[in-house]
Amino acid sequence: MIYNGIKDKVAIITGAGMGIGYAIAELLLKNGARVVVNDLDKKAVKSSFAGLEKKFPDRCSLFVGDAGDMEVIDKLVQFTIEKYGQIDFVIPNAGITLFGDFFKFTPSEFDEVISLNMKGAFFLVQKTGEIMKKQGNGGRIVLMSSITGIKGYPDLTAYSMTKAALQMMAKSLVLALAPHQITVNAVAPGATLTERTKEEEPDYAGTWGKLIPTGIVGKPKDMAETCLFLLSEGAAHINGQTLVVDGGWTVIGRYPEDLE
Ligand SMILES: NC(=O)c1ccc[n+]([C@@H]2O[C@H](COP(=O)([O-])OP(=O)(O)OC[C@H]3O[C@@H](n4cnc5c(N)ncnc54)[C@H](O)[C@@H]3O)[C@@H](O)[C@H]2O)c1
Repeated sequence: MIYNGIKDKVAIITGAGMGIGYAIAELLLKNGARVVVNDLDKKAVKSSFAGLEKKFPDRCSLFVGDAGDMEVIDKLVQFTIEKYGQIDFVIPNAGITLFGDFFKFTPSEFDEVISLNMKGAFFLVQKTGEIMKKQGNGGRIVLMSSITGIKGYPDLTAYSMTKAALQMMAKSLVLALAPHQITVNAVAPGATLTERTKEEEPDYAGTWGKLIPTGIVGKPKDMAETCLFLLSEGAAHINGQTLVVDGGWTVIGRYPEDLE
């Protein structure tokens, strides 16, 4: 789908070498944006990025580094300004899904999750928000939450806490950013079939499809379309919201009939 207000805009998207982030980068590029693709894994991302670069020469750049590292965030922002001269859209998408028994979860595992999922998003938005304020042309931020930020999931307490925090971040930042015409919203994907989730569970679509009312698991493209809508002109008046994209999974409960 083609969205208004995307062409020629400059976007930063973290964790975009594969999965949901990659789909967002590709859809932004198809809509005429200029995109800085960030990913941690240089080797893995090189081939996927080469595909984008071939299709959209001159409009996409790769920046390798840990999106939870403060120095990397500064350099990523600096790189984007040097390359394209402005920043309009920011999508802190990189996130680590670290499963672990609550009673065995270690402080270093906890820090790892918080550092990327929350601290990385917070400071990327802080640094880029400052630039958007100075530019004076508004801007858009889309945070990548999860339905685990809404309902409990086994062995994902730390991760779920960060995903709920991102929804609060979208609400709270309205106060700081709205006066500068910068909107901030979040997308909360449900079970989504990506390279990673397929590796975790080979029959991911079959297993998870049974839990979802539509019977179909999410695709990265579903999340990308939602993100592009939130970045587009059509979403100018949407601010501080979380859009759940899960085929209806979180709005249903378990019933006695399920036990039969
Ligand atoms: N896939 C799902 O079912 C699902 C559901 C809900 C929410 N989410 C959220 O959506 C986002 C993307 O999920 P996904 O499944 O597409 O991601 P993923 O795990 O497949 O990772 C995407 C990319 O992020 C990169 N990455 C990992 N750590 C990084 C770091 N520290 N810095 C920069 N890049 C890094 C990886 O190398 C990879 O190329 C995450 O925030 C995730 O929590 C995913």
